[in-house]
Amino acid sequence: MLRLHELFPHPIIQGPMAGGASTPALVAAVSNAGGLGSLACGMLSPEAMLEQAWEIRQACSRSFAMNLFVQTAPAPTPEEIQAASALLKPVWSQFGWDALPLPAKWCEDMEAQFEALLQVSPAVASFTFGIISSEQLAQLHASGIFVIGTATHLAEALAWQNLGADAVCLSGVEAGGHRGTFIGEQEAVSFSTSELLAQVAPQLSIPVIAAGNIVTGEDISSALSAGAAAVQMGTAFLVTHESGIHPAYKQQLLAATTDTTRQTRAFTGRFARGLDNRFMQVMAEVAAQVPAYPVQNALTAAIRSAAAKNNDPQWMSMWCGQGVARARAMGTAELMRDLISHCQTH
Ligand SMILES: Cc1cc2nc3c(=O)[nH]c(=O)nc-3n(C[C@H](O)[C@H](O)[C@H](O)COP(=O)(O)O)c2cc1C
Repeated sequence: MLRLHELFPHPIIQGPMAGGASTPALVAAVSNAGGLGSLACGMLSPEAMLEQAWEIRQACSRSFAMNLFVQTAPAPTPEEIQAASALLKPVWSQFGWDALPLPAKWCEDMEAQFEALLQVSPAVASFTFGIISSEQLAQLHASGIFVIGTATHLAEALAWQNLGADAVCLSGVEAGGHRGTFIGEQEAVSFSTSELLAQVAPQLSIPVIAAGNIVTGEDISSALSAGAAAVQMGTAFLVTHESGIHPAYKQQLLAATTDTTRQTRAFTGRFARGLDNRFMQVMAEVAAQVPAYPVQNALTAAIRSAAAKNNDPQWMSMWCGQGVARARAMGTAELMRDLISHCQTH
C-alpha cells in the first residue's frame, strides 16, 4: 500500500462536496495540480458514480478520491412523514404549494454505491457519517485502495485506526458542510481543528488530515507544523470556477466579509454549517424536532430545488465553513499554484 505522500505530491486534498460542488472538472484540476481531488458520491447513483469517475479519468491520469456517506436506508412511518412535513409548512407555504412534494426515495443504496466504488477502484476512498465494516475495509485493501475515515473526536479516530484505515481526516467544528460525528451526540462534539491536531493526532499512529477553516497556504503550513500529514479544504474550492454550486450561492459566499455561518440540522436532520438565511431562521425553533438524516434531507429536496429555480438563496442550503470570508474566486489551477507557493512543506 502506498503512503499518503506517495499518492499525490502536494499535501492538499480538495474535500468531497456532495450536492454538485465537486464536479469532475474540479476533481481533475486539483489532482492535475498535484493535490488530491475528491468526488463526493454520497448522493450519486452508482451509474452517476461510474460516469463521473470516467469523466475524471478522461481529464486526469493522477490519483483521485471517491467519498461515500456510511448510511442505511431508513423506514419512516406515514405519521412521521406527516409530522415532518407539518414542521416544514412555514417554508413550503411560501412557494404557494398545497402540500410538500414527497421524494421518490430517502437515500442511495450504500451497498450498490460501494460496488460501484470497487468497480472504479480509485487510488483513495474516503468515508463520513459512520464507519465501514472490516469486510468492506478488506475489500478496499484487496483492490489496493487507500482508505480515509472521517472523525470529529478521539473515539472515532481510534475506531478508524483500529479498523485498519490508512489515514483519518480530523474535521473541526469550523468546517463547512455536515458534521461527520458518528459516536455520541453531534451537538456535544465541538472540537476545533487545532484542538483535534493538538489532542487527538498525538494519540494516533496513522497519518492525520486536518479539515476546517484552512483556506490559505499559510493555514496549510500551520496545520502541517501542528502534526497534520495533509489538509482537506472545502470552502476554498467552493468558489473556484470549476465548482458546480448555484451562481446565487456562490455570489453569497463571495459577498461574505465576516463569518455569518452557523450550524443547523433543519435542512437535513444532521448538523451542518452554512450561511445563515431565512430557511434557518424560520426553522430555528423546530430544528431539534425534524427527523434524522437522510429523511429530512430528502423531504427538503423539493424546497431547495424550487429555491434554485427561483435564484433565491434564502431557501437554499449554502454550506460553507467559518473561513468563508477568506475564500477567493479564481480558477482551480491558479488557486493550487497560490496555495503551493505560500505553504512551506517540511
Ligand atoms: C458544500 C459542502 C459539501 C460537503 N460534502 C461532503 C461530503 O459529501 N463528504 C465529506 O466527507 N465531506 C463533505 N464536506 C466537508 C469537506 O469535504 C471538507 O472536509 C470541509 O469543507 C473542510 O472545511 P472547510 O470548509 O472549512 O474547508 C462538505 C463541505 C461542503 C462545504
